[in-house]
Amino acid sequence: MDRRQFLMGLGAAGVAGAVTLTGCGDDGDGDVDTPGGESTPTTSAQEGGAGGEVGVFTWWAAGSEKEGLDALEALFEEQYPNDTFVNLAVAGGAGSSAKAKLAADLQNGNPPDSFQGHAGAELIDYIDADQILPVNDVIDELGGADVFPQDLLDRITVQDDIYSVPSNIHRANMVWANPKVIKDAGASEQPADLDAWIADMEKIKDAGVETPITVGGTWTQVQLFETILLSELGAEDYGALFTPEGDWESDGVKTAVEKYAKILTMTNTASDGDDWPAAIDAVIEGRAAYNVMGDWAVAEFASKDQVDGEDYTYFPVPGTDGVFDFLADSFTLPNGAPNPEGAKDWLRLVGSAEGQKAFNLAKGSIPARTDVAPDDFPPYQQNAMKSFKDDTIASSIAHGAAVNMAWLSDISTAMSKFYSGRDEAELVSDLSAAGQKYAI
Ligand code: GAL
Repeated sequence: MDRRQFLMGLGAAGVAGAVTLTGCGDDGDGDVDTPGGESTPTTSAQEGGAGGEVGVFTWWAAGSEKEGLDALEALFEEQYPNDTFVNLAVAGGAGSSAKAKLAADLQNGNPPDSFQGHAGAELIDYIDADQILPVNDVIDELGGADVFPQDLLDRITVQDDIYSVPSNIHRANMVWANPKVIKDAGASEQPADLDAWIADMEKIKDAGVETPITVGGTWTQVQLFETILLSELGAEDYGALFTPEGDWESDGVKTAVEKYAKILTMTNTASDGDDWPAAIDAVIEGRAAYNVMGDWAVAEFASKDQVDGEDYTYFPVPGTDGVFDFLADSFTLPNGAPNPEGAKDWLRLVGSAEGQKAFNLAKGSIPARTDVAPDDFPPYQQNAMKSFKDDTIASSIAHGAAVNMAWLSDISTAMSKFYSGRDEAELVSDLSAAGQKYAI
């Protein structure tokens, strides 16, 4: 596909029925197959790896995210003993600090051997700037479209070249909840829609919980807002926002902004650097009832020994049941990487069934590959795999699937301005201006 088709595809990605991402253990027959049992051996151009240091850049620097990266690192060292893994992680959820450092390094001709990038619109920035190289050979070695969903491959392909190796798929539209706080306030286990949810937040506040729902820095606000938008508009109209026909001044967007403003009155006061684990920890500690976060949150609950269904519960953001707000992490081969052969060893590991199992078990995400058995995963991830298979796919704004980095930057500026000023009309007009500037 050419560049325009690629971007149009991204717009269409949110359109109900337009995308049939089938993955995570489903090869079309509804069953999950793990050929050869536990793991598929990784292939390597050179036994034991090409040798040398392999610098891998991510924002998985702490907590449960680091545990995911550590799981990959351990396997990498085992399978590629000639290579030396160098962890170049920069802290800050959603790459809030990492992306600027990466941009500067790439700009200055100082790329790492591989870096984390989101499948979808985000990748196009790197491709446009000639900062990453095709990795078709690695994808082919790994099994290509036999093991990765074609629609996922489409999101990392431009003009027949595939530019990254997907490591995982995350769902962004989940509410993580403290069942005790909810029960004590007489609120419902799973509110039917946004209005019922807001009414529950009011009940929880009246019961003495000052911040029924937590929020962190700007990117978490973008993520919360995107799920409200998705709830209010539905997947089809939400998806249309990323096409030239998108109407960011519609009544639906205005109502979403109104409801988002109302929800913000139920939250803690956040500073820009506030990261997502603290927002989840407030739910764990019963200082809040809810947080809207991607399903990397489940790994935070697990790492704090919280029991699914007892200590915490989860449900799709009210009004988004049946929709999977999608994002996928993938790893790249930068143009000018100091050790491209070592980087390919890393990509082989990331894309292998064994790598995907180890990583995703620790990270809360689901494998991008279709041949990793769900049975070994905890209930939440099995639930996410099913949702990914059955539900309508929408593309995340906050995590590079729906909009490229420049567009996301304008949206983030608008959201940050709104957080301090709470001017609804200004937010709508800023979002609309960004849409007109970037939708092609
Ligand atoms: C996303 C990324 C996830 C997770 C999250 C929070 O952008 O895709 O894997 O790391 O940020 O940091």
